[in-house]
Amino acid sequence: MTQNIIVLKEGAAKEKRVALDPVVAKRFKDLGFTVTLTPNAGKDAYFPDSSYQDITVEAPKFSENDIVLCVQSPSIETIKSLKPGTVLVGLLNPYQSPEVVKALKDQKITSLAMELIPRITRAQSMDALSSQATIVGYEGVLMAASLSPRLFPMLTTAAGTIRPAKVVVIGAGVAGLQAIGTARRLGAQVEAYDIRPDAKEQVESLGAKLIDTGVNAAGEGGYARELTAEEVAMQAEALKKHLSKAHAVISTAAIPGRKAPTIITKDMVDGMLEGAVIIDLAAETGGNCELTKVDSIVHYNHVTISGPVNVASHAPLHASEMYAKNLLNLLSPFMAEGQLTLDYDDEVIAQCLLTKDGEIVHERVRQALEK
Ligand code: NAI
Repeated sequence: MTQNIIVLKEGAAKEKRVALDPVVAKRFKDLGFTVTLTPNAGKDAYFPDSSYQDITVEAPKFSENDIVLCVQSPSIETIKSLKPGTVLVGLLNPYQSPEVVKALKDQKITSLAMELIPRITRAQSMDALSSQATIVGYEGVLMAASLSPRLFPMLTTAAGTIRPAKVVVIGAGVAGLQAIGTARRLGAQVEAYDIRPDAKEQVESLGAKLIDTGVNAAGEGGYARELTAEEVAMQAEALKKHLSKAHAVISTAAIPGRKAPTIITKDMVDGMLEGAVIIDLAAETGGNCELTKVDSIVHYNHVTISGPVNVASHAPLHASEMYAKNLLNLLSPFMAEGQLTLDYDDEVIAQCLLTKDGEIVHERVRQALEK
């Protein structure tokens, strides 16, 4: 029997993305599935219902065998209305949403959490954390440029020469590297800082200079680990000097499943230039700056500090297109003639499988939630 792919309308505040854009919805249809779009699901991403060709647009009527696609996790109420055995795929935020994981388990949903996809070469095209972080890094620089009282590029004009802005990017992961590239394209001079040793080559290949604080903290799976108190002090001492000359700081430092590290202290902000801007892209997970207020712009003395949330939703059209491709690349190898047959021995599926048959099958999430 042909399976139905249901695209939910996102319910979270400020969420403008949609799980499938019209092009990828058609690709699933071509794989033999029926696709049902919840009315206006794509509206905020500038994909009106009419842009989805040959797709049913109606309020979801859930049944067994459904494949349900979302960006952020649906509400508990929606999860409870799904039928046991449904396959749900989305950014389910498992470490921070124990109640969602419990509801998925209780409802016997087969859930795949996009953020648990391993960072291996084969899975790059499925990696939603990366696709969305690319947008976050780009948007972060545009926010800095628009809040800054200065221009970013060097300009030689009849009214004088404007010197390029100095931008410091903290955390050179996917978002940070995109921020470096974007700030460079706007003409800024960029310095970047990360604690992973691999970051040096990546930062320099984008034309930025790496700030060396003498701290190296590579952790598991290419991610960073938490720093010791001594390393934090070393880092602070070195960073303070660089921040005191920066016109804009974009911070993206994160440790998966943990609160973001506090890197920019009040003392460092006190030493910053008049009109300097900090865009704290880690605001949602606790912030990299001590003075950040989530979802707010704070004016502290002469420095502007912004802690935006759901930044990927600032470019919902491209964010949705990229996310939809990630879903297609994850699921399509297991799809034929309108049927999804997941291979639970496949490395990618095994690692992003969160719940199945009434169990939390992801070991690290289960242990974290039991603590
Ligand atoms: P993330 O969002 O977890 O963290 C952002 C950056 O903050 C990381 O580069 C991290 O090292 C840095 N950071 C953490 N604590 C810090 C501190 N105290 N001070 C300064 N910087 C700090 O990282 P993201 O962007 O998700 O990437 C993590 C890693 O995965 C990177 O090595 C990246 O190159 C790699 N990666 C590999 C992929 C693949 O092979 N498929 C795909 C995407 C990323």
